[in-house]
Amino acid sequence: MTGWHDRVTSILGSEYPVLLGPMRLVTLGELAAAVSNCGGFGQIAASGLEGEQLRNEIVRARELTQRPIGVNIPIYRPNAVQALEIAIEMGIEAITTSAGNPAPLMARVREAGLKVLHKVSTVEMARKAEAAGVDAVIATGFEAGGHVGREQITTMCLVPQLVSSVNIPVVAAGGIADARGIVAAFALGAEGVEMGTRFLATWECPVPFFYKERVRDAMCNETLLLGKEAMPIRVLKNEVTARVAGMHQAEADRTITSQGDAGYVQSGGDRETAVMPCGQSAGMVKEILSVQEVFADLTGGVDAVLERLAKLFGGGQR
Ligand SMILES: Cc1cc2nc3c(=O)[nH]c(=O)nc-3n(C[C@H](O)[C@H](O)[C@H](O)COP(=O)(O)O)c2cc1C
Repeated sequence: MTGWHDRVTSILGSEYPVLLGPMRLVTLGELAAAVSNCGGFGQIAASGLEGEQLRNEIVRARELTQRPIGVNIPIYRPNAVQALEIAIEMGIEAITTSAGNPAPLMARVREAGLKVLHKVSTVEMARKAEAAGVDAVIATGFEAGGHVGREQITTMCLVPQLVSSVNIPVVAAGGIADARGIVAAFALGAEGVEMGTRFLATWECPVPFFYKERVRDAMCNETLLLGKEAMPIRVLKNEVTARVAGMHQAEADRTITSQGDAGYVQSGGDRETAVMPCGQSAGMVKEILSVQEVFADLTGGVDAVLERLAKLFGGGQR
């Protein structure tokens, strides 16, 4: 049997406890299927999709893979309940939820026999999610791309504190882009990892090429946090984000809302005018690769890291 098997793979039905981070209007059927075909867990982000579009993306993924795929539902969005019903109706077996309290959805989730992993950024949120009955939590550290916690806790600090605070499995997200990050996350007690930024720079990813190039070329100091007071979001630095960072909050929120999707998904915008969510791990992404190549690097790379660690910690004279 191939893969790394643990409680997270039992929940997801995947070979590896490696999740494609759901990305609004980016992780659609094709990218989700590509990740699932490599043994990971591909997810379609429901955010920004009308009901029919979500259905079509699930159908598209199913045409491309027989393996399990998931749907991510940001709870605060008006289409959350509709997206949940579509996921159930389409036979999805595991979902992830984010940005809100999962408790009101749990009765329906349980009735439908769905598994649910909920994204958190503090110990308190994780305890509440566990009490609400979720199957696992996804610990999102401050270095992640996209929306991050207001409390600014990094993955390195968040994961072990969650592992010590809840009994359900913890998946680590934020700052993981290669095998070193995976081994580190598991050393901290995580039982799975979720990666977004690394998959932006893949051939299967549907963002414009300039976005992939920016992820590939960015150094670790080339992201910036917008919306610090409301819903902080980590994006690549460029002309538009420098301008927005200097605005008053209300004006900045309006600008991001009006430019966000148009910038990074559709053809409009360029590398200076598009808002491009991205994590600090972009500094580790040096090549645009296929999803299969990313997976080969991750799985092959873990063996090399473990060998190095075994030499240091394992067989030496003490
Ligand atoms: C472009 C982009 C869009 C994202 N959209 C969502 C989303 O719709 N829902 C969600 O739960 N997380 C979203 N995220 C967060 C990712 O799912 C993932 O948790 C994060 O990218 C992990 O950190 P990393 O970027 O360091 O890999 C987004 C991230 C990026 C970069």
